[in-house]
Amino acid sequence: MSQLLTISGLSAGTEDKPILHDIDLAIDAGETHVLMGPNGAGKSTLGHVIMGDPVYKVSSGTIVFDGEDVTEKAADKRSLAGIFLSYQAPVEVPGVPLYSFLRTICQMRPELKTTARKFRQRVSEVSEQLDMDESFLTRELNVGFSGGEKKKIEMLQLLLLRPKLAILDETDSGLDVDALSVVSRGIEAYRSECDGALLMITHNTRILERLSVDQTHVMVQGNLVETGPASLIDEIDERGFGRFEGALGEKVEA
Ligand SMILES: Nc1ncnc2c1ncn2[C@@H]1O[C@H](COP(=O)(O)OP(=O)(O)O)[C@@H](O)[C@H]1O
Ligand SMILES: [Mg+2]
Repeated sequence: MSQLLTISGLSAGTEDKPILHDIDLAIDAGETHVLMGPNGAGKSTLGHVIMGDPVYKVSSGTIVFDGEDVTEKAADKRSLAGIFLSYQAPVEVPGVPLYSFLRTICQMRPELKTTARKFRQRVSEVSEQLDMDESFLTRELNVGFSGGEKKKIEMLQLLLLRPKLAILDETDSGLDVDALSVVSRGIEAYRSECDGALLMITHNTRILERLSVDQTHVMVQGNLVETGPASLIDEIDERGFGRFEGALGEKVEA
């Protein structure tokens, strides 16, 4: 299997605050990785840095995606290359109807270009798959939608865009049982229909039960302190992050 994402020696932060320290992470095409860690560890920052959020500056290291060094590339270029990030709190975009937004982002990708009629059909199919009310499509992007509805819209984008790598940042947090099942279905459809890779940032071990996880990474204070198999998730679920925080102490002293 070919390596899709290779992060080497990555340190990054805001203009005046280092957040991530010397991160190495590799994800192969089609793999599912889980990133866990206490609040404030830097998980969302890593997602945003991979996506190219200009709020963060890379001070050293590289991000190679699909054979191309994207460390200095703008977010829109990374998106076109096939990286997708679902935000912890999706942005509201007044004045832009959801359907026009979806049509525009798909038309920008040569591999997804299609006729208006076929696109409409595909959107209907996916909306149905996600149990999503089609009246959402004429409303303004994310404006006035509930938390669960915004997540459905993100799953809709994921399934239409078919990225090579989807980074889902606590996309399951604060959802009720029904919304959670929609998100799970969206993720499963993405895995099976698009064969895309996943980096799931989550605290919710339930959403992971139905996924076959290849690797689990633990982040503490901006450091990746451990990478292991899916069984690490159960260990964290039972015992928390204490052991890993200890491991960080040793790493810093070394
Ligand atoms: N844009 C920012 N400006 C200032 N501090 C930030 C910014 N983004 C993240 N941080 C800080 O970096 C640390 C890691 O944050 P974050 O990546 O959101 O953690 P996590 O997602 O693991 O909870 C926190 O201390 C947070 O306050
Ligand atoms: Mg976060």
